[in-house]
Amino acid sequence: MSDLPRTLLPALSSPPGDRLEIVSAWDDDTPYQSWRPQILVPATFRPAETTRVYAVVNQKGGAGKTITTVELAAAWAAEGRRVRVIDADHQEAALSQWLLPQYPAASPRHSLRSVFFGECSLLEATYPTLFENIDIVPSGVDLVRVEYERPIGAELALARALAAETEQHGGAPYDVTLLDCAPSLSLVTVAAMSAGDEALVPLGVGGLDLKAMGALHRTILAVKDQNNPKLDVGAVFLTAWDKSGFARQLAARVSTDYPHAAVIPIRRSVRAAEAPIAEQPVRLYAPESTAASDYAQGAGIILAPRGAA
Ligand SMILES: Nc1ncnc2c1ncn2[C@@H]1O[C@H](COP(=O)(O)OP(=O)(O)OP(=O)(O)O)[C@@H](O)[C@H]1O
Ligand SMILES: [Mg+2]
Repeated sequence: MSDLPRTLLPALSSPPGDRLEIVSAWDDDTPYQSWRPQILVPATFRPAETTRVYAVVNQKGGAGKTITTVELAAAWAAEGRRVRVIDADHQEAALSQWLLPQYPAASPRHSLRSVFFGECSLLEATYPTLFENIDIVPSGVDLVRVEYERPIGAELALARALAAETEQHGGAPYDVTLLDCAPSLSLVTVAAMSAGDEALVPLGVGGLDLKAMGALHRTILAVKDQNNPKLDVGAVFLTAWDKSGFARQLAARVSTDYPHAAVIPIRRSVRAAEAPIAEQPVRLYAPESTAASDYAQGAGIILAPRGAA
């Protein structure tokens, strides 16, 4: 496996004019027409410095969970962190079809489903991708069996699997693990939220996205209360952001609901929509795009940077 040729993800050198301004409070008096997208980093926000497990969640479909998982992974991998992404979505055309797992020849192909059913460890279900420093736990449609068969202990299966590998390995085997969740409050989604140190919430800019926020908030509180007291929302990504009065209203609402979270707009970019077809992160496919630059900035805020991004 180690001799697999893997593509290095590029360092970005966005011109300073392309970078988003960072503020500690929105200026509510600026009319939206003159509002430039800004990253909100509240005074109480603390970047993480240790190894982290992030659940990327939103019950709303098409909110930008998968792209956020891929681009954060790419940004951190480019800095030399060891990153693992976990496909916690049974849909076809999800994460495992974007960052293709490179299965070794003549050995069983495990997946996240195998972990839930106790057939292998999380590390045995982890495979390299074509990109340096990014490994993946793949999934396919059979992950849905977890919902029907409800293996005993499923809600806490991922938290236990992560704890077990950390113990066996004498420390976490990855600097960062990102769990890309399905657009539903399934057993697998609850298991992912129960395993995360933090939740990252991508949010589309639309009326139904705003409506879905209340349900998501209640779910996070329920998981925190029942299964995972440390679960907080570390950052909210406003994906496919466009300048509008509504985007502005949504941003204000998010910062009220999650006063300690960083709020990170990701500007809309056609190149972002094309990258999955090319089976590459946007960072590699279109390093000059605003989406690549905004995600790189966001990644540097969530985790204290190690070197030049
Ligand atoms: N910054 C952006 N610019 C343009 N398009 C974007 C941007 N971010 C996301 N999109 C598009 O939005 C769509 C949904 O993104 P994505 O698949 O990441 O959402 P999701 O929450 O994972 O969806 P699902 O709930 O189905 O898993 C995709 O077609 C993607 O290309
Ligand atoms: Mg997805």
